[in-house]
Amino acid sequence: MTIVKTLAEYQDLNLPESRGFIPTLGALHEGHMSLIEPSLQQNDCTVVSIYLNPTQFNKESDLESYPSTLSEDVEKLKQAHVDVLFLPDYQTVYPDNFAFRVTEENLSHRFCGKFRPGHFDGVLTVVLKLLNIIKPTKAYFGEKDYQQLRLIERMCDALYLSTEIVACPTYREESGLAYSSRNALLPLDLRLNVAPLLYQTLLTNQTLEMKQKALEEMGFEVEYLEEYEGRILAAANLSGVRLIDNVLL
Ligand code: PAJ
Repeated sequence: MTIVKTLAEYQDLNLPESRGFIPTLGALHEGHMSLIEPSLQQNDCTVVSIYLNPTQFNKESDLESYPSTLSEDVEKLKQAHVDVLFLPDYQTVYPDNFAFRVTEENLSHRFCGKFRPGHFDGVLTVVLKLLNIIKPTKAYFGEKDYQQLRLIERMCDALYLSTEIVACPTYREESGLAYSSRNALLPLDLRLNVAPLLYQTLLTNQTLEMKQKALEEMGFEVEYLEEYEGRILAAANLSGVRLIDNVLL
């Protein structure tokens, strides 16, 4: 696996045209790895980026507590036969110091956007920049972050980007808990015994109000639990750790 940090280094690789790309924030887990598999199968080469993008964190404390496991990440990517790891720094991604940004004026203000103002401007801006740098044929995103996935698909349509966005199903632990870098921040007993109840509760055939009430009784602070595009989307804090999930109705 080749590790590159700058645009010039990346361009010098002269990669084949058929490229799959998986952007990440790092702290890689099985959910990330499940996006890499289809890319390896469908493209001549696979590029993964790890960049803890500060502009999508609206709270300093959230950015600071975000897990970082770079040496383990590199090992996992090598074992998975990823061709290139792109590891840019702030200057490489934001030579303009975030003066130029992508703003979406509709879906980005709902659900997670309501509770994390500016979050999706940061996400869309970094994804646009990464797509322009990497120039992938296909880029892989998880349905776990359904609102993010839909916004990225819409941005690509609106701005006539040529990359095909591939949506990948949410990868879960046996308990049903969706893999997430933030799971590592949970105390073990909550992670094992309470966190999986988020998904299990979304799956019940209770009304939205009943699901919310049940989650609150289990100790979740629910931010939102709403229907959107035939899914139930939810975000909830458990012991100060923000978890999101969604299920098809
Ligand atoms: P991150 O949270 O690291 O996630 C990177 C990709 O992995 C996203 O497309 C996310 O939806 C997917 N993913 C995470 N957990 C998953 C799971 N359990 N099953 C399936 N896919 C999963 O999302 C981001 O980073 C950032 O916002 C990013 C797009 C990289 C922009 O900075």
